[in-house]
Amino acid sequence: MNILVTGGAGYIGSHACKALAAKGHVPITYDDLSRGNRWAVKWGPLLEGDIADATRLRAALEQYRPAALMHFSAYAYVGESVEKPLLYYRNNFAGTASLLHTLTEFGCIPVVFSSSCAVYGKPERLPIPEEHPQRPINPYGHSKLFVERMLADLRTASGLSWMALRYFNAAGADPNGEIGEAHEPETHLIPLVLAAARNGVPVRIFGDDYETSDGTCVRDYVHVADIADAHVNALEHLLNGGESEALNLANARGFSVKEVIAAAEKVCDCAVPHETAARRPGDPPVLIGDAGRARALLGWQPKHSDLATQIKDAWRWMQARQ
Ligand code: UFG
Repeated sequence: MNILVTGGAGYIGSHACKALAAKGHVPITYDDLSRGNRWAVKWGPLLEGDIADATRLRAALEQYRPAALMHFSAYAYVGESVEKPLLYYRNNFAGTASLLHTLTEFGCIPVVFSSSCAVYGKPERLPIPEEHPQRPINPYGHSKLFVERMLADLRTASGLSWMALRYFNAAGADPNGEIGEAHEPETHLIPLVLAAARNGVPVRIFGDDYETSDGTCVRDYVHVADIADAHVNALEHLLNGGESEALNLANARGFSVKEVIAAAEKVCDCAVPHETAARRPGDPPVLIGDAGRARALLGWQPKHSDLATQIKDAWRWMQARQ
């Protein structure tokens, strides 16, 4: 089947394209390349366009007649979203409203949406289940939550079926080394820790006075290839008439920033220089997720849940790219 993948040139979108192709589907990447990479589009055609460009999008829908949409395109820097909220509301929220408007005019195909654990805000209990209160603490999280609400409303209004996958911290790279993480600028912890291992420029630890075991923020890291597999499972679930809902993708294990640095030192077999800096606005102290529902409903089985494997794959990708 043809599957339209907005943001298919991005980090997670490109891994989803590979997973789709492995199942015999044709991923049709629709991406404006403002933050994605042309080289990451390897498993199907690339259509350059903005999700808010209804004419371009309509032409893509008519040409390829996709059976479903996977929607990844979004800005995804928490810190930037705090500084420039309107950028996030315009691109992630208004852009998606426009995309869904065009889509529903064309016909209601199932939508798998790239959501985030940022919808929860500061957790009241751990690991976080899907029914946990959703009170984002940054505009990025709000933009993702609003889209989830929009999808639920469209289910009622137009019968559109959807699944929102709320990932915790995506990490690692394609286990075969074909694609990997390449953000410009890079803000994510693991690639920055690995860059510090390579070039000796200290990575900054954003805050060491949180109420966690060692004072640094704790995150639940999930391998990008496992996230990609979950999207294909969600797609099959919807195409088989499954229920529409939001599901966590997580490993139910948290690692502090200092633990990530220690794990990277083992993988790289060298010291990772680091220094303490101020807290980063918009960062919750701890995020650990319960993905029991995704396992039960989608049969999702993460294959690379240990942190060392995630760091190893990211390291191999980084070495190859250099
Ligand atoms: N961190 C540092 N130094 C750095 C970069 C990050 O200490 O140079 C810390 C952050 O403060 C955070 C942790 O490392 O505590 C992880 O930070 P990332 O930037 O790698 O990831 P985030 O947790 O901010 O973001 C991820 C996803 C978002 C998602 C968010 C939910 O990238 O899409 O989780 O909070 F919204």
